[in-house]
Amino acid sequence: MNFDLERIRADFPILKREVNGHPLAYLDSAASAQRPLAVINAESHFYQHGYAAVHRGIHTLSAQATTDMENVRHQAARFLNATSPEEIVFVKGTTEGINLVANSWGGSQLQSGDNIIITAMEHHANIVPWQMVAERTGASIRVLELTENGELALEQLASLIDSRTRLLAVTHVSNVLGTINPVKEIVAQAKAAGVVTLIDGAQAVMHQKVDVQDIDCDFYIFSGHKLYGPTGTGILYGRKALLEMMPPWEGGGSMIDMVMLPTGTTYGKAPWRFEAGTPNTGGIIGLGAALAYVNTIGLDTIHQREEMLMRYALDKLASVPDLKIYGPQTRTGVIAFNLGKHHAYDVGSFLDQYGIAIRTGHHCAMPLMRHYDVPAMCRASFAFYNSEEEADRLAAGLTRIHRLLGG
Ligand code: ALA
Repeated sequence: MNFDLERIRADFPILKREVNGHPLAYLDSAASAQRPLAVINAESHFYQHGYAAVHRGIHTLSAQATTDMENVRHQAARFLNATSPEEIVFVKGTTEGINLVANSWGGSQLQSGDNIIITAMEHHANIVPWQMVAERTGASIRVLELTENGELALEQLASLIDSRTRLLAVTHVSNVLGTINPVKEIVAQAKAAGVVTLIDGAQAVMHQKVDVQDIDCDFYIFSGHKLYGPTGTGILYGRKALLEMMPPWEGGGSMIDMVMLPTGTTYGKAPWRFEAGTPNTGGIIGLGAALAYVNTIGLDTIHQREEMLMRYALDKLASVPDLKIYGPQTRTGVIAFNLGKHHAYDVGSFLDQYGIAIRTGHHCAMPLMRHYDVPAMCRASFAFYNSEEEADRLAAGLTRIHRLLGG
């Protein structure tokens, strides 16, 4: 594997800083990843040299900005192996993408008595929009439960699906446990029963190649800020036939065909029909740079590097006394744990004093916390820019906290 960690780390200026007198060990990329200079510079360059409103002007800058933004749509289509850029909708992030599908597809397709299947490992963004649309339409929510080690209880899926099941929404990778769900098999089972499928890829696309044609899902969603891109950006992939029959969910400029008074307004084509108002053009340009950056390193290389680092970190953490690690052995990106009886916030605050940044709390996954009967967990997440030394520091920091506070 051709991987020069020092060179990679040099791409991310923030990794050079100190926190509380220690070099920063940033182990919170699953919450939000850091950005390489390529992304920061692309956004800055666009504002300095290329910015104008898109889809609105005949002048050179506007036309160029429109082309640049639409090129990112093409890039995103290639990134996910969508059949066409018209299957790519720009959204603010995973949360907005799921809300869009829940409101537009769900609001127009669901009827009283229908049901939607979600799972007990979803983060709130893949739970609450479905609950809201279910409440509005009279549909109900069914939950695919977890096994003790944090995998989906897939043998229960067949009994959840019936003739009124309309949609199945599942995360590709758990944001808490790092469980990699067999989405291709899940989609095949749902599809055989005529169920529409949505995959939340927020924690997957940065760790492995995703091919929506191979998975064969109807919707796939991810956020830019977890993929080394700007906040406020994201991609919703939607199968063309579905996007074309879905009504708009937000009205305004850019999404219309003709506006008539007092009624009779007609709407534009998908995907633009779902992009009302002036978009986050600078962010989308930055997202394009992030996709290019990840492709330059190569997702296969990233995957191999992260797998190695994950094995190393799990091995190191095994020596920490009273450390309970949650989730399956095979995982990607994250390690969730609790140290003895100590609250995750206390452990996280101590680690922060050593310059180690982790996430603590319910991780926007309260049902998952309930499954394990804990109020909170600590979560260390590993990106390809993290080092073995940072994993050592995490293990040493936890051992020190245990020595200071006991088990
Ligand atoms: N963004 C949330 C996380 O940190 C869900 O996993």
